[in-house]
Amino acid sequence: MRTDTGQVFRLEDYRPSDYLIPRTELSFVLSPDATQVTATLAIRRRDQRAQAAPLVLDGDGLDLRGAWLDGKPLPEADYSATSDKFILHSPPEEFSLTLETVIVPSKNTALMGLYRSNGVYCTQCEAEGFRRITYFLDRPDILSVYTVRVEADRKEAPLLLSNGNPVENGDLGGGRHYAVWYDPFPKPSYLFALVAGDLGVVADRFVTASGREVALGIYVEHGKQARAAYAMDALKRSMTWDEEVFGREYDLDVFNIVAVSDFNMGAMENKGLNIFNDKYVLADEETATDADFANIEAVIAHEYFHNWTGNRITCRDWFQLCLKEGLTVYRDHEFSADQRSRAVKRIAEVRTLRAHQFPEDQGPLAHPVRPRRYREINNFYTATVYEKGSEVVRMIRTILGAEDFRRGMDLYFERHDGEAATIEDFLKAFEDASGHDLTQFALWYHQAGTPNVSVTSSHDAIAKTLTLQIEQSVPPTPSESRKRLMHIPIAFGLVGPDGRDIAYSDADGAAVENGVIHLRKRKHSVRFSGVAERPAVSLNRGFSAPVTLSVEQRAEDQFFLARHDGDAFSRWQAFNTVMTEALIAASRRILDNREPGFSPAIAELAGAIADDESLEEAFRALALTPPGEADIAREIGTNIDPDAIFAAREALLRFVARANAERFQGAYGHLAKTGPFSPDAASAGRRALRNVLLDHLSTLPEGARMASEHFLSATNMTDRAAALTVLAHRHPSTPEAGKALADFEKTFGEDALVMDKWFAIQAAAPGPHAVETVKRLARHPGFSLGNPNRLRSLFGSFFSGNQTGFHRADGAGYTLFADTILDIEKRNPQVAARLATGLRSWRSLEPKRQELARQALVRIASTTGLSADLSDIIERTLA
Ligand code: TRP
Ligand code: ZN
Repeated sequence: MRTDTGQVFRLEDYRPSDYLIPRTELSFVLSPDATQVTATLAIRRRDQRAQAAPLVLDGDGLDLRGAWLDGKPLPEADYSATSDKFILHSPPEEFSLTLETVIVPSKNTALMGLYRSNGVYCTQCEAEGFRRITYFLDRPDILSVYTVRVEADRKEAPLLLSNGNPVENGDLGGGRHYAVWYDPFPKPSYLFALVAGDLGVVADRFVTASGREVALGIYVEHGKQARAAYAMDALKRSMTWDEEVFGREYDLDVFNIVAVSDFNMGAMENKGLNIFNDKYVLADEETATDADFANIEAVIAHEYFHNWTGNRITCRDWFQLCLKEGLTVYRDHEFSADQRSRAVKRIAEVRTLRAHQFPEDQGPLAHPVRPRRYREINNFYTATVYEKGSEVVRMIRTILGAEDFRRGMDLYFERHDGEAATIEDFLKAFEDASGHDLTQFALWYHQAGTPNVSVTSSHDAIAKTLTLQIEQSVPPTPSESRKRLMHIPIAFGLVGPDGRDIAYSDADGAAVENGVIHLRKRKHSVRFSGVAERPAVSLNRGFSAPVTLSVEQRAEDQFFLARHDGDAFSRWQAFNTVMTEALIAASRRILDNREPGFSPAIAELAGAIADDESLEEAFRALALTPPGEADIAREIGTNIDPDAIFAAREALLRFVARANAERFQGAYGHLAKTGPFSPDAASAGRRALRNVLLDHLSTLPEGARMASEHFLSATNMTDRAAALTVLAHRHPSTPEAGKALADFEKTFGEDALVMDKWFAIQAAAPGPHAVETVKRLARHPGFSLGNPNRLRSLFGSFFSGNQTGFHRADGAGYTLFADTILDIEKRNPQVAARLATGLRSWRSLEPKRQELARQALVRIASTTGLSADLSDIIERTLA
């Protein structure tokens, strides 16, 4: 483990390296405890006229066994090597350097570099894992053409994969064999990959638009091939979609995906050889929920789309991470929207953004979409870089329109194919293709924080004008106290009494084009003329800008919009706002020992939505789901008491269920009738709605019995997991809950991915006893501290998904937090650091919890020998 050196990397310090590595030859002789790596690098001085600067290669924990220059042993005086650097003191202008290192995959618990997962050799090199394999200029602007030879035991590893196309393979005698791979596309080292092991395969083929035939392979644990069928289908759909929507074709003869069970993140886009966390590959109705299917589709698409946005055009440096990630998330969002329901997808995206990115942007870890400094790049694979990064691309499309956006993308591909680019290059392509000036807009990349837009409206019936007073402000964030004014595109509609958008004759006070108000100044007074009747104003339709919006509006307008807004997202938003406000008020009353006191209009509206057959089931399911406890806490902002929020939310569910008991029962029964299972969006929507109705109805008497029946009659994992959640969370001490948990364990005990759901559901069960539950489950034989999926399912669900349990008033949750994070860090700093973000919002807690949380953070901070990953997160969290 690399301990923290406190070194800070700054964007302004970027400078091209003195040397280039046009060709890289790697040879691996694989063995678990001593893998021999021989790298032969063709190296050339970038600037022929420059002085011979020393060549400094990156390493991390390496053990050098030999060094040759142009094939001759390198005299010891000519170089120096430590575990994390190789320096050649005065290199010639052009030469070949051969370095031999020995690494130990079986001891690699950090899961970066070459490691073993279930006996399979695999690699993870992004961001800086390649330097754990061999010495290299391990930075994304060094593009090299790789030839890779892999040698291994045939029995242990009949399958030998690397990037690019296969060129040769053969037997070596003594049970050994080898394969050679060649990738013609120059790539940065973070895209290198190797897999060797004994795996099953699902093979298929794809013919590209120009007639190139591609062999597709998805490699999984033997016997699990059937569970990879959906992933293969998603892959082929992704390939077609990228051709149709972005004009991008695949470029190699093969495309392989390997599923491994130990993986730090979701998946990795290595050229021609994507490596996946198996939870984003394996699915069938028995073992995966509809959410799992949707995630698989999205992650398969995401990694595939990286082939153009990330691989063919890569990043100049890690500050530009959003260049590939934000753009690729935008592309996978659009793909899912086209494959499923656009409106439902948009609502889901916004919920995710608010749940993950808003707290980041509004807390101590806030950073711009393109950061200017970092201590540990692993900690910048964030919701801001990914999700807000995607929103920024979406806004570019809103501002330019579909055609100019596509022209800009085409120009970007044309100009930068084969290069390592920057955000400036990306923006310039859109400016040049469209004639727009994106100077002010570029602040979305440079300035952290969620902008606030506040709006008041006034209608003048005599003058027939509607005036909106709009003001923007960006709150201060760490190290950015003064903020500049942003270009914020706010899509809107003026909804007339009949529910239809009314036309206006003119608008002044801001640029208003195609239903979008472009805010550029602090204040705008936008006046619409020809508006005879007072409309309800629908703002930020489709969530056109990632801002918080405060609209001074009559309550009846919100209710009206929740019934009539023509924009599905805004319609969902209106009801969500109604519920959020009611929940905040209720939690305050609960703290004063009063009744929560909800308005019957909420229950009435919920009933109307449940029955409204003109709305998709998935939409109704989302609309009927009250904001989560964390959402409510975020809206309250300070002095949070999680117990009061939880009580308010439970009370709302019960209130709505009581008022609609018959209606909900009817709809619930009706939705039970389905044909054979299909993971498609419409079928998933029906299950989602029925499960939301169950969530409501289970608050009523007989709730445990109903949930238990739901569990026992379930024919798929979506329904089974939904029922188990209701039982374990709402009726934990009933025999029904105990029986369902035991049943589940008995059926799926051998299936680690399914057991992750069992761990996660219990770890998220509300209430003070959750701390003990989590401690008990950590000793379960199915749990393992070494596997990131297990860690996330148990501790991730507890730290980030259990407001009342984790934030237990006596601080026991925080003690478990500190103990656990320090324990995990010893093996896997990257995963420990990510779990540690679970306390980033500690300052919004009420004072007693705040102090206890601070003590736990301080205890971690004062531990000696912390990794760069963890100390970076903890110090920023405490700062
Ligand atoms: N580039 C990967 C993606 O598509 C992210 C990723 C996978 C990653 N594994 C990683 C990032 C390990 C850092 C470390 O989103
Ligand atoms: Zn990505």
